[in-house]
Amino acid sequence: MRVDVLTIFPDMFPGPLGGGVVGRALEQGLLTVVAHDLRDYTDDRHRQVDDIPFGGGPGMVFKPEPLVRAVRAFRAEDPAARVILLSPQGRRFDQSVARELANESHLVLICGRYQGVDERAREEIGEELSIGDYVLSGGELAAMVVVETVARLVPGTLGSHESLSEETFTDRGFEPPLYTRPASFEGREVPEVLRSGHHAAIERWRREQSEERMRRRRPDMVRDGATAGGI
Ligand code: ADE
Repeated sequence: MRVDVLTIFPDMFPGPLGGGVVGRALEQGLLTVVAHDLRDYTDDRHRQVDDIPFGGGPGMVFKPEPLVRAVRAFRAEDPAARVILLSPQGRRFDQSVARELANESHLVLICGRYQGVDERAREEIGEELSIGDYVLSGGELAAMVVVETVARLVPGTLGSHESLSEETFTDRGFEPPLYTRPASFEGREVPEVLRSGHHAAIERWRREQSEERMRRRRPDMVRDGATAGGI
């Protein structure tokens, strides 16, 4: 998978994406992340990407020309590229959106900044994603969250100890409680069933625990049918 990121802070990348599972995927060439400077798509001496809003109001707005120029260049190079603006007004990003995006071969993630983005550029981009109902000062961290989440779903990116196929209970709820040695820690014991060697019983216990956790902690996710996809 290829991910192009359009930002006024290209030096922020790969940043935290350079470590862990995603860092390994980058090294192995399973994933390519390229950050592009939006200022490279300006045509004035000051490389200006923002301007004051028509009608007044605080802050600055991303000008349409550099963004539209960049988006058209990406689409001309690859008509299959999925171009997405990170914005708190977008469709909510979650695990099922991540699974959807993991099927794409090419994402172009556009990081907004300032008070916002000129409406005509937003229309040109067409798709917006929000990572949650809070406002970041820019889309860069949101783009990193999207890349991190999607990348680990791309086949081959997980190490054997992190195999997705072994995340069995994510089909039905949250991860069940996990334990490692010691069997007794400060008087708190590992549940007997996990030490029984009885695989069917272990599987049943884990399924019950993961479903119960989701019911108790996130009843909204049970109602919304999120368990169908798992998390
Ligand atoms: N940019 C600012 N806030 C954001 C959010 N919550 N999600 C995505 N992009 C953003």
